[in-house]
This record gives sequence, C-alpha cells and structure tokens, in this order.
Amino acid sequence: MQPLSIILVRDIEKRKELARLAGNQPWVRNAPVSMVFCLDFYRIKKWAEMCRVDFRGEAAVNHFLIAYADVMIAAQSVAVLAETYGLSSVYIGTLLHEIDRVREFFKIPRLVLPVMALCIGYPKSLPGKIPKLKRKDILHEEEYRTPPADEILHAFEEKYGVIDQVKEKYLERAFVEALEHDLQEGPGLVEHVKKEMKRLDIQNSAQFLFKVRYPTEVMVRMNRGLLQSFKNAGFDMFDTSFPVS
Ligand SMILES: Cc1cc2nc3c(=O)[nH]c(=O)nc-3n(C[C@H](O)[C@H](O)[C@H](O)COP(=O)(O)O)c2cc1C
Repeated sequence: MQPLSIILVRDIEKRKELARLAGNQPWVRNAPVSMVFCLDFYRIKKWAEMCRVDFRGEAAVNHFLIAYADVMIAAQSVAVLAETYGLSSVYIGTLLHEIDRVREFFKIPRLVLPVMALCIGYPKSLPGKIPKLKRKDILHEEEYRTPPADEILHAFEEKYGVIDQVKEKYLERAFVEALEHDLQEGPGLVEHVKKEMKRLDIQNSAQFLFKVRYPTEVMVRMNRGLLQSFKNAGFDMFDTSFPVS
C-alpha cells in the first residue's frame, strides 16, 4: 500500500520554520535538505472509496503499526543511501510535539501524520562515535536470556561512562546534541544542562536520562496532546468502542 508521503524541504524560510517547529534545533535549519516523513492513509482511503470498499487504516492499530514501520524503514534507507554519498543525516523526532502546527504549515490533510524528519547535509566533521550497548547486551541466541540486574547496570555504565567526570566529556557520550547545539547556535544549552544536573542532584546516567533529557513526567504528560493531534488528523485507533460485526 505504501502508506507514506515525503515532503522535501529545501527553501531556507521553510527550513527555518521547520527548525522552530522541531524545538529550535539548529541543524534542522542548517542542513540544506530535510525530508518530512508522513504516515499517509489519505491516498489509500480515497482510492478505497472510489473502489467502493471500506478501508479504515485510521481506526486499526495493526494498520498503524505496519505503516509506521514502513515509514521508518523508508527513512532509514534514505539515511543509509545518504551515507554512501558522503552525506550525513539526523532524525528529528520532536515534530511529534507539534503535529498540528506541522500539518498546518505544510498543508497536510487529514489522515496524514508527519512522524519525523530526516535532515541531510555535508558533515563538517565526522561526529564522534556515539557509544552503544554492546552486541552481547542486545543479541540473544535462539531464545531470550533475561539479563541479571548487575549485568544491566554494567551495560549502561559501559555505554554512558561515569557522571562525575568533566561534564562536557560526559555529555559527549550521553547528550552529544547539547554540545553540537552550542557549536552551531552559540553557547547556552550545555550550561543549562549542567545547571539542571546540579539542581536535580543527578547521581547517575538513568537519572540524567529520565530527569533531565526525557523527564518521565513530561513524557507521560505529552500523551494528551499527542493523542489529541492524532484525533485532529482523523486517527482514532485507540477507540475500542466501535461496533464489530
Ligand atoms: C525516531 C528518532 C528521533 C530522533 N529525534 C532526534 C531529534 O529530534 N534531534 C536530534 O538531534 N536527534 C534525534 N535523533 C537522533 C538520536 O538522538 C541519536 O543521536 C542518533 O539516533 C544516534 O545516531 P547513531 O546511530 O549514528 O549513533 C532521533 C533518532 C531517532 C531514531
């Protein structure tokens, strides 16, 4: 069904607005090309209507999950292809905070959801390798092996390093975007993050992630707006009250 559409954004004024909608991430404005990836049931629904058949992707979680996977696979294919041309890219997920405004700005109709953007450009320098969990931590042979607690602790310690080192060094591993933000936009974010770490008395990487970077309360509170934006776009797959014959 190919439930996706891509909006190619090259115009500098549009890039600036896209950057604002993404929460003022400077690389969104600076990258010469961005692609806004949308999950698109509009085209399929119209087609089904014209063919006199009921299609309700917007009401079916299964359709949604498959379509979302489809969109992300397409984006990742572009990211990999871009690399082969010596380009680099970054995913932008924060558009999800502003789905209504993104839809309005890009004239996106109902049943189409912008789910993220991929910004593509020529890298000034190759970013340091962002540490990852080790293969042994995520790969299971033949069946799932539930890791013991100390192994989980160790795996994340290895990934993020220790928090009581020079904060910039720590952020290189745990929040490289803050350093990059200050490089591209001027100082501000790193200082802010350091102050927040102090104010919240952050003791370890999990506390950093779930109190500073992705505060749990904020993430959960976002549900309301997110689900409302889904509804505004005509998506209603969380409604289990519809009649099933
Ligand atoms: C769905 C998704 C959304 C993301 N959103 C953002 C974003 O809004 N801004 C950003 O700078 N990076 C964003 N990232 C990038 C991550 O923060 C991280 O830097 C990247 O996935 C690591 O890339 P690597 O695999 O090359 O190490 C996003 C990544 C994914 C998968």
